[in-house]
Amino acid sequence: MSAQSFNFAGQHILSVNQFNRDAIEYIFHIANQMRPYAQRQKRTEVLRGAILGNLFFEPSTRTRVSFGTAFNLLGGEVRETVGMSNSALAKGESLYDTARVLSGYSDIIAMRHPQAGSVAEFSGGSRVPVINGGDGANEHPTQALLDLYTIEKECKSHGSTIDGLHIAMIGDLKYGRTVHSLCKLLSLYNNIHFTLISPTELAMPESILSAITNGGHKLTITDQLSGSVDADICYQTRIQEERFTSQDEADKFRGKFRLDQAIYTKHFQSKTVIMHPLPRDSRAEANELDNDLNQHPNLAIFRQTDNGVLVRMALFALTLGVENIMQQHEKPVLWQTPKSTL
Ligand code: CP
Repeated sequence: MSAQSFNFAGQHILSVNQFNRDAIEYIFHIANQMRPYAQRQKRTEVLRGAILGNLFFEPSTRTRVSFGTAFNLLGGEVRETVGMSNSALAKGESLYDTARVLSGYSDIIAMRHPQAGSVAEFSGGSRVPVINGGDGANEHPTQALLDLYTIEKECKSHGSTIDGLHIAMIGDLKYGRTVHSLCKLLSLYNNIHFTLISPTELAMPESILSAITNGGHKLTITDQLSGSVDADICYQTRIQEERFTSQDEADKFRGKFRLDQAIYTKHFQSKTVIMHPLPRDSRAEANELDNDLNQHPNLAIFRQTDNGVLVRMALFALTLGVENIMQQHEKPVLWQTPKSTL
């Protein structure tokens, strides 16, 4: 398999709009090759000497750490800036200047920032590839890729494919950037049925609805979870309270769409896979994905987070042009490793 339709080396990864199906399948092909390294069956030092600038100007646990882990697993080193107040952006420095400076210290940059379009603006000043780790309510392309990779694996385990998938997305579809990016990627496939369940105030933006309908897919929009939903995937989301103009406004929607064992059993099929980009809000007043589903075999949320490392490793290897030489730089693993379920 080759990446004839997309030249990854040296490219910024800013939006899922950059990808077609061939490019996605090539990323997933490389991600599959990363599994033995992520499982510590063997190591590669293909990026030994390379530096990732990991710039997170907005809170993150899994995206920030998995970018760093992915780079370390390829043998590279990570330098981090965390939080707006700890950077010179707080002194009025522009994104352009920050990019000019930090790209002189790094071979590649991963970045998250609260403003939509900020990572693209930053990339304009960068001398090295920039990967979008989430820009405001706009996009989260690497999350969408890991979600799609997970969906493909879950479908395969049920004997199906992404083509023909029925996905139900629940919660804050207005501010949830992961669902925006995922809808665009899924729209590249055939005969997808999207069931979008949200309060009308938090409905999916028109631009995303257009991408769905222009792709000829089936679209069902509702403001309540009712009856039986014949979905293969239930993709639950958190109310993105950090994007609301006031806490009171966010509070209106908190806890409105909960999923627990009883609700899941009432509305979904026994085969429906449960996904969430995480973090889930586990406070009692929200609790959109209850702990009573933690042992459910269809709960894929931690398979998603594990898959995120594979997909981010693949993106680093591709953008730095080393995807075909990883084996030449392999080393044995000298320490005891836990049994992995990856
Ligand atoms: N899914 C996701 O972006 O999680 P973090 O905010 O922890 O990075």
